[in-house]
Amino acid sequence: MSEWSPRSWKDRPVEQQPDWPDAEALERVVKSLGALPPLVFAGEARKLTAKLGEVAAGRAFLLQAGDCAESFSDYSADSIRDKLKVILQMAVVLTYGSGVPVVKLGRIAGQFAKPRSSPTETVDGVELPSFRGHIVNDDAPIAALRVPDPDRLIAAYHQSASTLNLLRAFTTGGFADLSQVHAWNQEFVTTSTAGRRYEAIAAEIDRALRFMRACGIELEAEASLHQVDFWTSHEALILGYEEALTREDSLTNDWYDCSAHMLWIGERTRAVDGAHVEFLRGVHNPVGVKLGPTATGAEAVALCETLNPDRVPGRITLISRMGAKTVETALPPLIQAVSDAGHPVLWVCDPMHANTFTSENGRKTRHFEDVLGEIRGFFAVHKALGTWPGGVHVELTGDDVTECLGGAEEVFEDDLPLRYTTTCDPRLNARQSIDLAFRVAELLRA
Ligand code: PEP
Ligand code: CO
Repeated sequence: MSEWSPRSWKDRPVEQQPDWPDAEALERVVKSLGALPPLVFAGEARKLTAKLGEVAAGRAFLLQAGDCAESFSDYSADSIRDKLKVILQMAVVLTYGSGVPVVKLGRIAGQFAKPRSSPTETVDGVELPSFRGHIVNDDAPIAALRVPDPDRLIAAYHQSASTLNLLRAFTTGGFADLSQVHAWNQEFVTTSTAGRRYEAIAAEIDRALRFMRACGIELEAEASLHQVDFWTSHEALILGYEEALTREDSLTNDWYDCSAHMLWIGERTRAVDGAHVEFLRGVHNPVGVKLGPTATGAEAVALCETLNPDRVPGRITLISRMGAKTVETALPPLIQAVSDAGHPVLWVCDPMHANTFTSENGRKTRHFEDVLGEIRGFFAVHKALGTWPGGVHVELTGDDVTECLGGAEEVFEDDLPLRYTTTCDPRLNARQSIDLAFRVAELLRA
């Protein structure tokens, strides 16, 4: 294989990059990003690889969750806290319900760039460059604001840094303490079926903690009860940004993309000879690849060979996003091919991206039953093949939004305009997310 460098992706065909109007301005920004501190430390990425290796071996489960696209405008301490809360709640439900350790990985602190099916879109009869995420342009349908602006790379870096800082404070400073399980349940969730089921688990955890204390166990000394490991991830789409944050680790002399702990390659940029695969093959972070219904077993194996020639467990996560109706036919040949090739991968189900449709009133949405249906199909396939259904990858928010249909407190088509605030794809609200966690825990137990 050819020599790798943080810039070697430039010699490959590259998809989904913005049409930056001023190449020199972009170069200047990339250069100044290169001088800024890394957001994560290489040792953390190595630790996550080891954790994901546990998942690949069937001894743990991955919960990867967060926004479709983080926003520069809808950005506050409360929204970060509420997103963290719902992920922690889901993790409690999954861990308590299945007895399996859960690795918690946010689509957060860097999830700004969006691949698009078309370079332009038409709004009210006017053709505009597509919105590509706040790291590139603005979502407002105004031509001037759709021009890619390299200064947004710097803004994305700073927002990622402050988001990550708050997440680290919350997860190590007492907010994620297991004695706080009740406090994570927001009022609008408590009044729902999922919220009440969650409260019952929280009460049992309280009782177990009291029991341990009564037995004389020093709970204060047990760090794992008071803080959680919470990791960050995003799609490594804008390669200039990722290149600028790629640093050589002084301990191992290996390269790491220090913009997040884990990076993934999207469905539209996973060509094995393309720039995105070239870039990620050289960094030592754990990496994910999305696989849609057109992926072949040969492609999946080629991706594994290129991205993980040393077959390190936890290095590769294959994230299937097939659609509820397609998963049971499209997924088995991929699993079979990768298993036959002997690659230690971790299989994860993204039940969101192939179940999107436009409602009668013109909103992009997803139905809770389809999301659940794809997860059920994913579990059924793994059960039949004797492989481990390693995790789920979902788009959610801690807010009381009405973006996805269905759920126990059903969201109907007429409700969609009420609180539809996503910057990109429709997200599960907190109630739907916790409901989903209960269903996944049941599948894991079975
Ligand atoms: C996404 O994860 O938001 C996304 C665009 O996914 P995919 O690449 O699977 O379409
Ligand atoms: Co999305």
